[in-house]
Amino acid sequence: MLIVRKRKEMEALVRGYKAENNKIGFVPTMGYLHEGHASLIRQSVANNSITICSIFVNPTQFNNPEDFRLYPKNEKGDVELLQQNKCDVLFIPGDEFVNDILDVMIDMKGADKILEGEFRPGHFKGMVNIVALLFQVVQPHKAYFGQKDFQQLCIVQMLRAQKFPKIEIIPSPTIREESGLAMSSRNARLSKEEKQNALKISQALFSIREHSKQIWSAKTLKDQAIKDFFSSEELKLEYLEIVDAQTLVPVSDLASGLPIVVCIAAFAGKVRLIDNIIINS
Ligand code: PAF
Repeated sequence: MLIVRKRKEMEALVRGYKAENNKIGFVPTMGYLHEGHASLIRQSVANNSITICSIFVNPTQFNNPEDFRLYPKNEKGDVELLQQNKCDVLFIPGDEFVNDILDVMIDMKGADKILEGEFRPGHFKGMVNIVALLFQVVQPHKAYFGQKDFQQLCIVQMLRAQKFPKIEIIPSPTIREESGLAMSSRNARLSKEEKQNALKISQALFSIREHSKQIWSAKTLKDQAIKDFFSSEELKLEYLEIVDAQTLVPVSDLASGLPIVVCIAAFAGKVRLIDNIIINS
């Protein structure tokens, strides 16, 4: 696997790949890679002639400086995981890459102001700007994003439609530990006890999915899940919303049969975790 640290080198490499008619698959990440990322890499390797993974912890998408400072890093482990999964190129630019970020104007149709957007102001703006820069540098044919960051995926689809229509965005299901906990780089910051408490997040999601077969009122489902899973101090719920999978706007009932997503953000200790489940899909 090639490791490229300079933007210009990456661009030259991409020009070469394109001249040889390669199909480029791209997996953008912030590192501390886990099985969720590995599954995206494997999909890309299976469907493209070149797979490029990027690692860049983008400061402009962190509304909380402490969260940025404590974001876990493990370049050696990441390189091993990528090599094991047959990634061709790791693009890992230095901190100066932040200076190349431009303000990309897209219409996020209000999706940047709700759910994560409400609690992490500016997060999606920063995310859109870095993904746009990475798309410009890497020029992928296909880009792979996990559904664990469901709202991010929706906004990346808007970025694609408005600025990069030739790129195909490939969504990929959330990968979970056996316990049900969604895989996330931030899990590395959880103590044993916090990790145990965090299981309630996926348990709440599974419970809502199960009960939604009989109960259609979003309010009833939501209230019951909050009572059953978030009434103790161990886990601090930030939001639990049952929303339309297209618009991300809360729904009042699930009778329409349209795809619905249940989204949760909660703190286990100081670690903020998000998870979601798609129902009626
Ligand atoms: O999901 C992530 O890891 C990041 O938000 C991304 C897409 C790499 C942009 O920094």
